[in-house]
Amino acid sequence: MATFQDNLPDLTVAPAAAGTGASVYIETYGCQMNVYDSQAIDGLLKRAGFTIVDRDLAADVILLNTCSVRDLAEHKVISRVGELRHRRRRADLPQPVIGICGCMAERMGTDLRKGPRKVDLVVGVDNYDTLPDLLGKLTGGTCATEQRTVTGHRSDAHYVAPPALYPVNNSHLVTIHKGCDYKCTYCIVPYTRGPQSEKSPAAIIEEISGIVSSGGREVTLLGQNVTAYNWQGGMGFAALLEKVSEVPGLERIRFLTGHPHDMHRDLIDTIARLDKVCPWLHVPVQSGSDRVLRRMKRYYTRDEYLEMVTYARRAIKDVTFSTDFIVGFPGETESDFQATLEIAREVKYDQAFCFKYSERPGVPAAKLADDVSEDEKKRRLAELMAVQEETWNAVAGACVGEIWEGVVEGRARHQLTREDGPAWRLRTANNRKVILQGGEFEVGDRLRTRITGIKNTTFLGARQD
Ligand code: 5AD
Ligand code: SF4
Repeated sequence: MATFQDNLPDLTVAPAAAGTGASVYIETYGCQMNVYDSQAIDGLLKRAGFTIVDRDLAADVILLNTCSVRDLAEHKVISRVGELRHRRRRADLPQPVIGICGCMAERMGTDLRKGPRKVDLVVGVDNYDTLPDLLGKLTGGTCATEQRTVTGHRSDAHYVAPPALYPVNNSHLVTIHKGCDYKCTYCIVPYTRGPQSEKSPAAIIEEISGIVSSGGREVTLLGQNVTAYNWQGGMGFAALLEKVSEVPGLERIRFLTGHPHDMHRDLIDTIARLDKVCPWLHVPVQSGSDRVLRRMKRYYTRDEYLEMVTYARRAIKDVTFSTDFIVGFPGETESDFQATLEIAREVKYDQAFCFKYSERPGVPAAKLADDVSEDEKKRRLAELMAVQEETWNAVAGACVGEIWEGVVEGRARHQLTREDGPAWRLRTANNRKVILQGGEFEVGDRLRTRITGIKNTTFLGARQD
């Protein structure tokens, strides 16, 4: 399959195009898909002769890779544009070219080129291959107004983030498909990211083999709905996991995000059977109320979800779950909300990302009255987070004394005590984070650790030989 990288001219020998050599700072908002896309943009621009810098003030061009999933995420970006301009003025530096990429570019298009916070360039999720040329023209002062907004979906636009540019530790992100066909009624993603379109299994395997040959040992397969992966009607997600598992040298496979509706028993059995696939399922439930789930068009009931969890807990050793929740969906009553608290208590998630419903323009739920007041949404959010914390503390507390294996991902930011030497971050296969003090390790080392305590969502551990 053609990728953007394939389509680019070879710029390794030829002089860079007009205006390149400029420095670019990329700031990423939102989900892991955006993190991956920013890596792909980084690779694309470096190949075209641009320099990527890590300080906004040092850049000729600033690209904000944005998220539209909630109103607040969009507001943050708009005020960030003002702040970036202000920082330049205060430092007495020339204004940079500012570009908006990602979901906001797709949703708002030319509107972003108007008003006091207007930007110079708008490039949507499927058009990053145009960036080298556009940035060349913009920094060279030859970019026409009508060329400055490039949006619209293209099924061929599958990016590859070059592995050599990224640290070999931790998980390498690998996007396996883009877009979403589910159309949950609250969600803007099917509009900003377009219809679901798969990267081919061959391209995925090639990408992962490249990661392994540049030292990576772990990948996280990414997609809005990875469990709905379906290559030309012939290869589903379970079969893809089998194929990825066969890549020699690869040690661990994680994936995000699963849709509960697609977590069939054969997929769960495959996850259980494949040693390299990590026992951690991020399967957002969104709500515990059947009435709300129906109105969200989630295609499962509370009971079906719980059955899936029970089956997975029996089949997959040490499996853990994480979720997203939305509170205050239109029409959510107190008893609907209580059902959400109940499912949180019942599943006992390791992690729950909890959000207040945010009406997005043009989505089906926007036709429903956003009738849960802001104060009530805030109260429900706080209550849900408190239930999650309480549930988690009980689960985590019961782990103290257990012995786990984890992989060293790097140095921890803070030492636990001054005397005991550096602290290290470990991650277990089922996605639990452990901080361990003392000793000298290499990133990627596998260690056994005895759990000695908990600090918020992180465990504290001691080396166990
Ligand atoms: N309002 C609030 N949260 C939302 N999400 C998606 N759309 C909205 C919305 N309109 C949440 C869902 C999803 C996560 C990525 O963001 O919980 O799983
Ligand atoms: Fe949005 Fe639903 Fe698709 Fe997830 S599955 S991206 S919540 S529409």
